Amino acid sequence: MTPIATVLYRESEIRSRVRELGETITTDYAGRSPVFVSVLKGGAIFLADLFRHVDLPVRVDFMSISSYGSGTEGSGVVRILKDLDSDIGGEHVVVIEDIIDTGLTLSYLLSTLGARGPASIEICALLDKSVRRIPRLDIRYIGFDCPDRFVVGYGLDERERYRNLPFILAVEDQRALADDLDALLPFLGGEPPADAVG
Ligand code: PRP
Repeated sequence: MTPIATVLYRESEIRSRVRELGETITTDYAGRSPVFVSVLKGGAIFLADLFRHVDLPVRVDFMSISSYGSGTEGSGVVRILKDLDSDIGGEHVVVIEDIIDTGLTLSYLLSTLGARGPASIEICALLDKSVRRIPRLDIRYIGFDCPDRFVVGYGLDERERYRNLPFILAVEDQRALADDLDALLPFLGGEPPADAVG
């Protein structure tokens, strides 16, 4: 029987990769005070872990956006629901994302943020679903090159649930999860069942 989900990235893998990314950013931005811009909501979970591994006077700020239209693949044009609190003119900005899929959202955001005159903008994404990319994007920091799977956990949600899973699951049976949102509840609060480890 197909398990409803399998583990794609274990908690320990995520922890060590996030630490490595933080250390790399620390080296790359030595002597500077970057601003980490996180796109709510999923990106905030990654940001919270990442920036505690960055040994620099880093500032954090948040944006909340909403896609126009319906469907899973929009144009990338977004409405800003909550803008940054501070001006990024002259700042070194690192946009922190949990996942980049088509890249349309980020591409639009980069043009919006770029118009505000930052000294630099780089992207840091935990998961890069590169096979789905539409516009060309230079992603400087990538946690994992993610296969084209439906993923939940560590910030990634299914109808706002399961962002608090400490690992990332690939959903094997999307229909079962669509029918029963509670189907992944046994995974919360600890290691997943051994037979579901992929
Ligand atoms: C996810 C992710 C990116 C976007 C990527 O956000 O955090 O912002 O989708 O998709 P794209 O590359 O195809 O444009 P989502 O809309 O799921 O919001 P959330 O973080 O609040 O769950």
